[in-house]
Amino acid sequence: MIVRPLVDQERIVRELEALAEFSDTPKPAITRILFTKPDLEARAYLKGLCEEAGLHLREDGLGNIFARWEGSAPDLPAVGTGSHFDAIPYAGMYDGTVGVLGGLEAIRSLQRSGFKPRRSIELLIFTAEEPTRFGIGCLGSRALAGVLSPDSLRELKDPEGRTLEEVRWEAGYMGRLEDVALPEGYYSAFVELHIEQGPVLEQERVPLGIVTAIAAPASLRVHLEGVGGHAGTVLMPDRRDALCAAAEIILGVEAFAKNSGSINTVATTGFCEVYPNAVNSVPSRVRLEIDIRDVEQSRRDQVIRNVIQGVEQVCTRREIKYSVQIINIDPPAKAGSDVLKALVASCSEAGVRFKLMVSRAYHDSLFMARIAPTAMLFIPCREGISHRPDEYAAPDDIARGVYVLALTLAKLSLAEEKTVAKDDPVLLDE
Ligand code: GLV
Ligand code: MN
Ligand code: MN
Repeated sequence: MIVRPLVDQERIVRELEALAEFSDTPKPAITRILFTKPDLEARAYLKGLCEEAGLHLREDGLGNIFARWEGSAPDLPAVGTGSHFDAIPYAGMYDGTVGVLGGLEAIRSLQRSGFKPRRSIELLIFTAEEPTRFGIGCLGSRALAGVLSPDSLRELKDPEGRTLEEVRWEAGYMGRLEDVALPEGYYSAFVELHIEQGPVLEQERVPLGIVTAIAAPASLRVHLEGVGGHAGTVLMPDRRDALCAAAEIILGVEAFAKNSGSINTVATTGFCEVYPNAVNSVPSRVRLEIDIRDVEQSRRDQVIRNVIQGVEQVCTRREIKYSVQIINIDPPAKAGSDVLKALVASCSEAGVRFKLMVSRAYHDSLFMARIAPTAMLFIPCREGISHRPDEYAAPDDIARGVYVLALTLAKLSLAEEKTVAKDDPVLLDE
């Protein structure tokens, strides 16, 4: 069957611009944090667009939004697509949103072309892929995959001490957390469209990336407690300065990653809170948050062990009390081979060159891959910049990604039961 999706490039650009209006910071800096006013306004806007497209809407107790285009075989597992629309402080307007509005436009482009889905095609708009409010990334998709239990969800608190329970109820999400995890076999396949967030596609002038694996992310929280005091009167031999210990630890994090033996190891101490944070006071307490990733889990885990040992050594020598909490330690995800094949076939049908690549950023697909054969499609973004206000993806690149996504969804929707096999891993492309 020949499918010719009719993508409305101007419309998706207009909708991305409209979505960017819902932000806690003035454009071009986008800040959209879970269950804040801009997040709730963005939800209402997106749900309105889905309704306009005739999709059947459902939301779970965490605020994951499902918008379904029913197929002729509605009892078969559906084909899913989607991404997130939250944005870290001072981010750009394309991270996640291209996969949300792009997924919707892919569905609309198939509707316009007269395509009739067999398996239903469902847009999944995830709650909080970014860790900003509750300290853990992929909140919605983790829970959908059953990786985060309802009890752990209930324990989550934001920096102001407000529980997830409180804020989700306030936002109108009162459904049972026990009902969030998706049943086995809910999706036959899942495809996420996303900006690359790195420079490779642009540098190599390749219009699309097909993601074969997503790197394994982990994050640690380190609490340090020394002894505070007057910056003028506590003499240097008597100091137990928590920030000096933190400084050594931070440099250790960098060194362990640099010396891992692979360019694929990255480690970042991106958060440092100092108490009392005053120029004339010896820092008594510090909280650090450390992000460590690799495409190879064992190498990533070795760096984690090194960092923890480093914390022990520095703190013992400096007489600092410490605790290390592992916030998440996730395995890498490998793409499902039938979804990859559908993406490759769609690229060749569309006459678009592509590159097989790994994703060094994490995505909701990291968790969707645990419950469905999953793959991602990357489009270039200018200079690889992301998580910054100057993040940019060109309209032509977005439209091309949407076109190939639409072709892929159509193929997967028509796929027979046996052709969408349970995960058949494809090797990491290091
Ligand atoms: C997701 O935004 C990540 O930090 O990789
Ligand atoms: Mn992001
Ligand atoms: Mn993202």
